[in-house]
Amino acid sequence: MKNAYISGTGYYYPPRVVTNQDLVDQYGIDTSDEWIQKRTGIKARHFADEGVGSAEMGHHAAKMALDNAGIKATELDMILFCTLSPDHTFPGSGVYLQARLECPGVPAMDIRNQCSGFLYGLQTAAALVKSGAAKHVLLVGAETHSAALDLTTRGRGVSSLFGDAAGAVVVSATDEDRGIQHIVLGADGRYGDVLCQKIWDITKRPFIPLDEDGNGVVSPEMMWAHMDGKLVFKNAVEKMITSLAAICWDYKMQVTDLDMVLFHQANLRINQFIQQTMGLDEAKVPSNIERCGNTTAATIPTLLAEQVEQGKVEPGMKMGMAAFGSGFTWGAAYLVW
Ligand code: ACO
Repeated sequence: MKNAYISGTGYYYPPRVVTNQDLVDQYGIDTSDEWIQKRTGIKARHFADEGVGSAEMGHHAAKMALDNAGIKATELDMILFCTLSPDHTFPGSGVYLQARLECPGVPAMDIRNQCSGFLYGLQTAAALVKSGAAKHVLLVGAETHSAALDLTTRGRGVSSLFGDAAGAVVVSATDEDRGIQHIVLGADGRYGDVLCQKIWDITKRPFIPLDEDGNGVVSPEMMWAHMDGKLVFKNAVEKMITSLAAICWDYKMQVTDLDMVLFHQANLRINQFIQQTMGLDEAKVPSNIERCGNTTAATIPTLLAEQVEQGKVEPGMKMGMAAFGSGFTWGAAYLVW
């Protein structure tokens, strides 16, 4: 059986930076840099311009990952696109990315697992490669949150947290003793409504109410994301700790044996709490949330690509990853670089 390893990484942020103070000055939101930084660690985020969506940003990140892997898009056996902000309801953003990459025929699949999407995708990519069904899989996490945030004081509890970005990896087959060793995933759908953005209800006829002129009308409660922040915080801490500990238990390792741990970037306070509780050295736990906010499916691949670009990831390094998000869904991974 082949091993599956990450052969290339890439990332992309749209150029426009929106600081916490910009949320006050440009959008008129009743918030402050101090409030946001104190609770989340976020200082700024990137917002894409109108006309730019997840497939386009994913394309930038994918090109970088393919270049770094040294392969052409036509050599791919599968494209996996993780997002909660697809360009359209259907088809998925994966096929739009495939069109941009000019590789017709390559299968493309969307993964809808929010903040855990990248780890669900990594599990899928590794399984395809290890089984021999694929030699190279492109895995992209891309989000265009800015178009779907309630950027008013009413929505400040959610809208101050999120930003736009894309991250990508190529997962490839190797005979070397390295790569993706183990991934654990979990979900608990009883918490589906704790963090959600519904927009429509497919059980209703029609699925979006119509006004007397036949135009669709979406109420603010349906249109914007809802979150019970305290419940998310508590569960994120618990599930990321237990899934990372489970991975280490399976490999008879201590968490402190890991050389680097990439946490989903939902909130710096969540990650600091986990790092301290598990006795992890702060230097082993990089973050980018200060600069780009929570970019959901893009958090881990952007963080990884930045660490690789900065020369901080070395062959043989033991790497952990952990994520938690809407669903609830969660997971952890163990890789040898
Ligand atoms: N600026 C100023 N005031 C705000 C803001 C803001 N941006 N957002 C909320 N408030 C106000 C609320 O309106 C509320 O005011 P009230 O008491 O007058 O009603 C007050 O602050 C407290 O609101 P809470 O939501 O209770 O604030 P909390 O202390 O829980 O902090 C936060 C909110 C930061 C979201 C926190 O719950 C959290 O970090 N939760 C984790 C969830 C998370 O990170 N989610 C990310 C997405 S999910 C994921 O990726 C895992």
